[in-house]
Amino acid sequence: MSEPLLKLTDVSKSYGATAVLHDISLEVRPGEVLCLLGDNGAGKSTLIKVLSGFHEPTSGTFEVDGKPATFKSPRDAGEHGIACVHQFGGTFPLMSIGRSFFVGAEPTKGWGPLRRFDRKFAGEVAVREIRALGITRVTDGDRLVGGLSGGERQALAIGRAVYFGANVLILDEPTAALGVKEAAHVLRIIMQARQKGIAVILVTHNVTHAMAVGDHFAVLIRGTLAADFRKGERTREEITDLMAGGEAMAELEAEIEAYQREHAGQVPDPAELEQLADHQKPTA
Ligand SMILES: Nc1ncnc2c1ncn2[C@@H]1O[C@H](COP(=O)(O)OP(=O)(O)OP(=O)(O)O)[C@@H](O)[C@H]1O
Ligand SMILES: [Mg+2]
Repeated sequence: MSEPLLKLTDVSKSYGATAVLHDISLEVRPGEVLCLLGDNGAGKSTLIKVLSGFHEPTSGTFEVDGKPATFKSPRDAGEHGIACVHQFGGTFPLMSIGRSFFVGAEPTKGWGPLRRFDRKFAGEVAVREIRALGITRVTDGDRLVGGLSGGERQALAIGRAVYFGANVLILDEPTAALGVKEAAHVLRIIMQARQKGIAVILVTHNVTHAMAVGDHFAVLIRGTLAADFRKGERTREEITDLMAGGEAMAELEAEIEAYQREHAGQVPDPAELEQLADHQKPTA
């Protein structure tokens, strides 16, 4: 196996007195898709923010390509080849495709006071890169990003990260708001990035999507790394169960079954389910 591109050792993060991440140690290798799984509030977005320089960890260390690194800002992380695409692509709806692709790194033409944004170049490159990802409906770089579909926006953001040389591409729920076809397309783009040797960190709630593209899986439960395994080492059921925080789903099923036995096969209504759940809550 190749050397890790990114290695975290005992990374913790607290917001004031609230500890959100506890001693996370993880390695990510080139050409691998790491799926970061976990229930709402498990700490996935927080881990991503720490990885991409939006927040500094409270303790723990990072290595990039075997060398110690600290990120004070997203720009720092970017200079180490780490790019993060936020949900909905993090693009600007009122900007043109070309300008959005080059935001922060605008190509210019002319000199001195005549220097200005090279709209034609930006539009052409953006359209070329997006089309290379298989989005052939995009033909005009002057169109507004707001007119793109969710999947097209993800393609724009991923294409941009790859164009600017990302080695580690972090995607926070890139398929969450997408239909089946668009999600499949985004997953295909992830596989394309992987083939280029890029390490992809994919945050998702969708076990099907994770299993379709993942090589490596990490499950967070309440800020702790509860499982770290490779493709084929766990079944879909085991992964789903882990994501639900262990026995939660099995417990719920057992409760519903017990209710049905007592109520001639009837399903409990939501209010009753809530009461069942309250019974389960620890009293301390
Ligand atoms: N700035 C903050 N200050 C205090 N607590 C925070 C802050 N940001 C996140 N948290 C808390 O940290 C925990 C983890 O949040 P995080 O957003 O990382 O979860 P997540 O796994 O991404 O959840 P989701 O699947 O819902 O996106 C939550 O309990 C949240 O309330
Ligand atoms: Mg999140």
